[in-house]
Amino acid sequence: MTTPSAPGGTFRFPETDLTVRRVGYGAMQLAGPGVWGPPRDHGTALAVLRAAVAAGVDHIDTSDFYGPHVTNQLIREALHPYPAGLVIVTKLGARRTADGSWVRANGRDELFAATHDNLRYLGLDVLDVANLRTMASGSERFEEQVTAMAELRAAGLIRHVGLSGVSLEQLAQARRIVPIVCVQNRFNLAQRDDAATVDVTARAGIAYVPYFPLGGFTPLQSAALSAVAMRRDATPLQVAQAWLLHRSPNVLLISGTSSVDHLHENLGAAAVTLTDEDMRELTGGGGE
Ligand SMILES: NC(=O)c1ccc[n+]([C@@H]2O[C@H](COP(=O)([O-])OP(=O)(O)OC[C@H]3O[C@@H](n4cnc5c(N)ncnc54)[C@H](OP(=O)(O)O)[C@@H]3O)[C@@H](O)[C@H]2O)c1
Repeated sequence: MTTPSAPGGTFRFPETDLTVRRVGYGAMQLAGPGVWGPPRDHGTALAVLRAAVAAGVDHIDTSDFYGPHVTNQLIREALHPYPAGLVIVTKLGARRTADGSWVRANGRDELFAATHDNLRYLGLDVLDVANLRTMASGSERFEEQVTAMAELRAAGLIRHVGLSGVSLEQLAQARRIVPIVCVQNRFNLAQRDDAATVDVTARAGIAYVPYFPLGGFTPLQSAALSAVAMRRDATPLQVAQAWLLHRSPNVLLISGTSSVDHLHENLGAAAVTLTDEDMRELTGGGGE
């Protein structure tokens, strides 16, 4: 017996007035090769952003360290003044060095400075949601970092706080300091070691926003994806995204692309209905 379940629809961030469609857009790929500006094609980058919003996307994930600054500048150029209801979610906690490396920048002053950079480059007075992005080095100062996020919220510079790259212990610790509306960790069909966080956040009504939903810089491929895709008249990557949408109702997609064609393909994942049997086949017949 198979039970289809609807993958599309909307999600409301807990204790907020922010509701978004479950299929959004992740803007990191727009910064260019190595997430280091300039983009491959400036006009195409603007076209992708405008096509996303024209197709109904109301949740864009970004950070000022993409480029650096480049992705936020593109978002502003393409979409400002922003349409009502568009939720731009950004990240704080890292910076780029001249050689393109990613280093932590999560001291209180650095988090405040990064917030002001995001506001300036996006052309906003307040950030709807900012994720504290942790890095393995420096996680011992986690409480201090979350406290700074709470201060940013109290100062009216960010409306809501999220987390990225966190353990369940860190999520619990953070929630004792400030309300958390979303968690952005790595999770996709091939990398399921964060399954417990999907379930814990679902029970708490917190959005779970997997990064690398398509597998990251090397998109996912498997015989099961191809077989289910054939049955559902979809592409393998649409099935990979539909799997995430079916996995839990609090999962929001922010698949990344620098191509208008890929964007439309990815948005089409919302219309792909998978059966229990499809889900079992995709996960290898078992759990996680
Ligand atoms: N919190 C964190 O630490 C963190 C880390 C990484 C990413 N993120 C966020 O997560 C978002 C998504 O991650 P991501 O973009 O790195 O990885 P992803 O969404 O898993 O995959 C992106 C890759 O898939 C390709 N692609 C996308 N759609 C495709 C399609 N329909 N057919 C074929 N190839 C396709 C893209 O190339 P094309 O450009 O050619 O389409 C790109 O190489 C990012 O935009 C960013 O906002 C957060």
